[in-house]
Amino acid sequence: MSNQCKVNQELSDWIITQRRYLHQYPELSHQEKHTREYLKSRLEELALVPTSYTGKDVVADLHGDYPGPVFAIRADIDALEINEETNLPFASKNVGYMHACGHDGHMAIVLGVAKLLSTKRTQIHGTVRFIFQHAEETVPGGAEELVKSGVLDDVSAIVGCHLWEQLEKGYVGFKEGPLMAGADRFEVTIQGKGGHGSMPHLAVDPVLVSTHAIQQLYSIVSRQLNPLHPAVLSIGELKMGSSYNVIPDKAFFTGTVRYFDPIIQQSIRESIQTMLDGVCTSFHASYDWKYEVGEPPLVNDPSLTSFVEKEANKIVSLEQIVQAEPSLGGEDFAHYTNEVPATYFFLGIGEKGHSFGHHHPKFDIDESMMIVGTEILSQAALTYLSAKE
Ligand code: NI
Repeated sequence: MSNQCKVNQELSDWIITQRRYLHQYPELSHQEKHTREYLKSRLEELALVPTSYTGKDVVADLHGDYPGPVFAIRADIDALEINEETNLPFASKNVGYMHACGHDGHMAIVLGVAKLLSTKRTQIHGTVRFIFQHAEETVPGGAEELVKSGVLDDVSAIVGCHLWEQLEKGYVGFKEGPLMAGADRFEVTIQGKGGHGSMPHLAVDPVLVSTHAIQQLYSIVSRQLNPLHPAVLSIGELKMGSSYNVIPDKAFFTGTVRYFDPIIQQSIRESIQTMLDGVCTSFHASYDWKYEVGEPPLVNDPSLTSFVEKEANKIVSLEQIVQAEPSLGGEDFAHYTNEVPATYFFLGIGEKGHSFGHHHPKFDIDESMMIVGTEILSQAALTYLSAKE
């Protein structure tokens, strides 16, 4: 075994230790207090000076020995309100909360980059900024707050990655252009006229109106949009009535809209309005609705993406590098992609038939992929900040 491998094994073990510790203490979005303290201590051990742009994030700059641009690397740090069922020896000690998306792994990966690069300052022309971002799982989320507070003002490029269950273990997925969808929320209140279940002719039944409306809304994606432009509209919540023989007064439902192209977003939004108008008119009901624009689509910068992909090939074989499949999931890294050249890639941890999806109570990561992430990010940073001819 070469010396290089030995060093990497040590680093890999260290990264796994960090991940297992963080996994035991998951904290919800905007409440990542203990996590922040832990990250700060680890960064201080590496002779870095952690700071915070919003009071909820942790950011540390690693200055090279020479001047140059700022290359940022982002990890998200929040967990979810899920009761862990993995039976791992290092399972969550915060009952009801769980790192069920892999953000524990992301923190460990980026701590690993900090540890590795802190020994290579003589090769760095510029600064590596480590951004440990709070509240990825909520809207509004941490990325938006960080961008507003100026974390990217002097940054030339930013990179992030996600341990990804939908990609087979061992593979690394890159994609130029749109990777993750824009994710909006809408809510609708249908106002009918309540009455006795035996006398529907005297009432305006919001049960009937809302179910008609929902059926029509589901036809927007299948019948009104170009099938070559991916989009989703899903209703996740429907509330009405409280008694079997009473026609309720109103109905309430909420849903999500996912898209890659803002023109599609606009067209869905208009169609929802048109359909609500039409359905409610036809049943003599009225409605009130609200459309909330959420995370924008995550669009990878083509040249930065191909740069990081090339650097990744110094770490993993060409066969392991694949085109990432876009996801209609939202990811607030998108806010960074709107500001500076940015790229986000996937580290495959999936095992068909064996692994559980993100946000599942039995979700777990393949820890051996963390060192791969650390090495790719470190390699990309080093080359980006190497001496220019
Ligand atoms: Ni996530």
